[in-house]
Amino acid sequence: MDTVFVLVSSLPLIFSTHFALTVANNLEFSSIQPTRLVTKLIHRDSIVSPYYRSNDTVADRTERTMKASLARLSYLYAKIERDFDINDLWLNLHPSASEPLFLVNFSMGQPPVPQLAIMDSGSSLLWIQCAPCKSCSQQIIGPMFDPSISSTYGSLSCKNIICRYAPSGECDSSSQCVYNQTYVEGLPSVGVIATEQLIFGSPDEGTNAVNNVIFGCSHRNGNYKDTRFTGVFGLGSGITSVVNQMGSKFSYCIGNIADPDYSYNQLVLSEGANMEGYSTPLDVVDGHYQVILEGISVGETRLVIDPSTFQRTGKERRAIIDSGTAPTWLAENEYRALEREVRNLLDRFLTPFMRESFLCYRGKVGQDLVGFPAVTFHFAEGADLVVDTESMFYQATPNIFCMAVRQASVYGKDFKDFSVIGLMAQQYYNVAYDLNKHKLFFQRIDCELLDE
Ligand SMILES: *[C@@H]1O[C@H](CO)[C@@H](O)[C@H](O)[C@H]1NC(C)=O
Ligand SMILES: *[C@@H]1O[C@H](CO)[C@@H](O)[C@H](O)[C@H]1NC(C)=O
Ligand SMILES: *[C@@H]1O[C@H](CO)[C@@H](O)[C@H](O)[C@H]1NC(C)=O
Repeated sequence: MDTVFVLVSSLPLIFSTHFALTVANNLEFSSIQPTRLVTKLIHRDSIVSPYYRSNDTVADRTERTMKASLARLSYLYAKIERDFDINDLWLNLHPSASEPLFLVNFSMGQPPVPQLAIMDSGSSLLWIQCAPCKSCSQQIIGPMFDPSISSTYGSLSCKNIICRYAPSGECDSSSQCVYNQTYVEGLPSVGVIATEQLIFGSPDEGTNAVNNVIFGCSHRNGNYKDTRFTGVFGLGSGITSVVNQMGSKFSYCIGNIADPDYSYNQLVLSEGANMEGYSTPLDVVDGHYQVILEGISVGETRLVIDPSTFQRTGKERRAIIDSGTAPTWLAENEYRALEREVRNLLDRFLTPFMRESFLCYRGKVGQDLVGFPAVTFHFAEGADLVVDTESMFYQATPNIFCMAVRQASVYGKDFKDFSVIGLMAQQYYNVAYDLNKHKLFFQRIDCELLDE
């Protein structure tokens, strides 16, 4: 049962990577493959971000981040269980329904048009708003991309096999490949699949351009409540994904997500992605990147986790590794074991209480948790992710801190076995995905050092 589950679920990954390479060759994609395509990730609350609010307090930002993460949890879950009754969750499930954590900064076309797209490892199409556009958002960062004035824009015939792999890809009356990317509950992005020059730039490394990148030119968007992004940068493993067009590798490095001014957060595509550190098997299940969580330690103490559910279903303890949720969400048994140990260490000294179903204490992370041991997530094949105090807890208000690891099942029993490793646990790490080798790497590093 176990083996079957893993084998079946990793097939699409093998297939799609191989296929994408073939397709890429057919398209003569690759003029010159740059060795390192790197761009800064823009923090939602950074002063250069369209989401920046000058009157926000730190607590306001934290609140928004946690709300966005709840929407994200439901989005990830709903992709797996589309029939799950999500009416009791208050959010629209489009990745933009609540604000993103990071935006990808790049340009498209010639002359280049700047873009700020939502980084989404849960979907596999890069799409941007294209003129003429129906119900598109106002472009705060500049004019909208207009394919009719770009010299590097190419249309893709709907006879091209790629068209079949685009979301609802099909021919229109003029043989263009049209797509319709629907989201779980949000309104779709509808447009044509085309090719264009994508330019990544960073002030330190100059710019790098890649020609003939397959993307969605979106001429019709849902009436999003959030109108500040210019598209979605899908980092999923599907055939149309930018990742598959560029060597099937990518990595990101996030410093401190509580610090919007930290300027070394970055995304790297292609061969230059930094594949170092521990590695663990990576699979794609239901369109999500997943790893096997074998255990958790607090300091030197390995937690005793009740294995009952896993023994019964024969499944491994799988966890989605995600870049769109800040906290980590754990399956019930893992969470209970972890909470027990946290309370064991803290309840004698601090006042615990539940705030919206999550464990919090009165106090300050910087003062009251000195000496709290590091928590380690142990992944298959000996890969350890060490979560220190600043990643385990967050300051919710000036006098209250809460655990940044949460129990997903507070939203219903369907989430009982659902685990998602969020971005806070990945802080201070470079996280690299190799889709050909089916490996996820993580290396503890100061992101600033990657620029050298
Ligand atoms: C903060 O500013 C935004 C717009 O910039 C405004 O809509 C909001 O009401 C302000 N909030 C407070 C608490 O002043
Ligand atoms: C896109 O797909 C959605 C969901 O299937 C559908 O409701 C909508 O009408 C489609 N839009 C277009 C323009 O095809
Ligand atoms: C995006 O990158 C370009 C090139 O490095 C830079 O000039 C621009 O300021 C960046 N945009 C934002 C919002 O940071």
